[in-house]
Amino acid sequence: MKGIILAGGKGTRLFPLTKVTNKHLLPVGIEPMIFNPIRQLLSAGITDILVVTSKEHMGDIVNLLGSGENMGCSFTFKVQESAKGIAHGLSLAEGFVNGGSMAVILGDNILTHSIKPHVDEFMEKKSGARVLLKKVGDPERFGVAALDEEHKMIIEIEEKPKNPKSSYAVIGVYIYDYTVFDIIRILKPSDRGEFEISDVNNEYIKRSEMTYGVVKGEWTDAGTFESLHYANEIMLTANNKIRVDTNKAESANFFY
Ligand code: G1P
Repeated sequence: MKGIILAGGKGTRLFPLTKVTNKHLLPVGIEPMIFNPIRQLLSAGITDILVVTSKEHMGDIVNLLGSGENMGCSFTFKVQESAKGIAHGLSLAEGFVNGGSMAVILGDNILTHSIKPHVDEFMEKKSGARVLLKKVGDPERFGVAALDEEHKMIIEIEEKPKNPKSSYAVIGVYIYDYTVFDIIRILKPSDRGEFEISDVNNEYIKRSEMTYGVVKGEWTDAGTFESLHYANEIMLTANNKIRVDTNKAESANFFY
């Protein structure tokens, strides 16, 4: 399985912090934000990683990450010329993925516990898609999953609904088979002019090819001042380590 980190976008909600600095390079705990998604992929055994970012910030991202040699992984970089949405960013990964499956992480999503159990579960079947959910107090800020909990099925995902049908946010970690690229090709831009990842996920739901899991531990995005502050709190508490199982925390200090 390959890994994709989407680190594009303008970070407008964090202006002026993001006037010259890419959002994913801002500090979270003791490391740049993007280290958490990298650690997530490594904790799941994924070492072939594509990082997608904007032209303006590619130089800084490459300076920070290098080849991946000292992190035990290999980085490939791809420029997203314009901020046309998450699904558009993902479409740039088609050649890199080259027919296999992939774990996609939004570069501003911070998790204390490893995604490994979800990757392992997907790999048992290796087809369709899997989204990860977390119960939150402010679901209207996210993609929200309406669930049939009895049958462990997602009925629908609504992007930032005014009246959320549940308190389960769809977090920015998605596991897909290769058909995701065919789905992206038939997408239409949303009202805000972006190719929405929720539309991709709804297509998998329509095809009865979507599974879900609920993540353990803490999760937050870090794209607003409040959530960035919270991300700093949980990562400082964890010393930026990721919990792979209940007793063991992965070492945080092998990058530098
Ligand atoms: C994106 C997705 C949304 C998801 C969120 C997780 O929203 O569109 O479905 O819940 O990431 O961080 P954004 O933060 O880009 O507005």
